Amino acid sequence: MSNYICPLCDNPLQLNESNQGLSCANNHQFDRAKQGYFNLLPVQRKKSKEPGDSKIMITARQDFLAGDYYLPLATKVADKIESLIADNPSFAMLDLGCGEGYYSRQIKQQLPAILQYGIDISKPAIIKAAKADKSAHYAVASSDKLPYADNSFDLALKVYAPANDEELQRVIKLQGYLLTITPAPRHLWQLRQFIYQEVREHDTQDTKFEGFSLQDSQRFSYNITPNTAHRMALLQMTPFAWHANEAATNNIKQADDLAIELDFVINLYRAI
Ligand SMILES: C[S@@+](CC[C@H](N)C(=O)[O-])C[C@H]1O[C@@H](n2cnc3c(N)ncnc32)[C@H](O)[C@@H]1O
Ligand SMILES: [Zn+2]
Repeated sequence: MSNYICPLCDNPLQLNESNQGLSCANNHQFDRAKQGYFNLLPVQRKKSKEPGDSKIMITARQDFLAGDYYLPLATKVADKIESLIADNPSFAMLDLGCGEGYYSRQIKQQLPAILQYGIDISKPAIIKAAKADKSAHYAVASSDKLPYADNSFDLALKVYAPANDEELQRVIKLQGYLLTITPAPRHLWQLRQFIYQEVREHDTQDTKFEGFSLQDSQRFSYNITPNTAHRMALLQMTPFAWHANEAATNNIKQADDLAIELDFVINLYRAI
């Protein structure tokens, strides 16, 4: 746990004797919240009062994720990580924009020895993540300024979350990995058909990350048939929910047994 750095002055943060707080040489102090996480997002760096996903968005995502429709994806991600761990007994991963920690928890089930860290700019998301897994190290922080020392991680996982190339390069070890999940062309096609006159395939040009080379790119798709409540939660979680007018929303609500395509690109990059 000693790889945290101070978000105010970049000095290493040490756990104090009671184990309940972190402090740096300049005596900047950060208390551990009762759920076990640290808030390492200084007020002056907050762009709004409650940055990141709101409690409503997080609850919708949590309801939907509880249906385990994303379990095949999480298992695929865990398999991929398992193949990278080799015989490293202290493999450390960072879940960037981890939300409520769904993917990290699934990975931990399959790979119990993995050291897990996660950050999200949303405090309600981190509260949920920290409550659900006391063994992972969660912090409220921004991907624009990661509160970790250089070369802290063997792998960073980025599932639909923002990142900053320079910070990724700094905290991921040389030869370490960056694993990204992004939507592929037909992701949520049938939901989008209710909303748009003409549905277009998502553009999936592989994103380039400075300091990393793409090692492997895989498309992963399957269909799900969520119940009505989960279908509506899925809609709320999507960035295009804003485009759904009342008629489209009602039609989606009534579309019992609608099979929806999930379509992802899983990219593996290596720090060079
Ligand atoms: C679409 S959600 C994905 C959450 C999670 N990875 C998942 O797939 O369940 C994106 C997450 O990124 C977080 N986020 C947005 N801007 C961020 C930033 N600058 N730094 C860290 N997290 C951020 C949001 O709060 C939200 O939880
Ligand atoms: Zn400091």
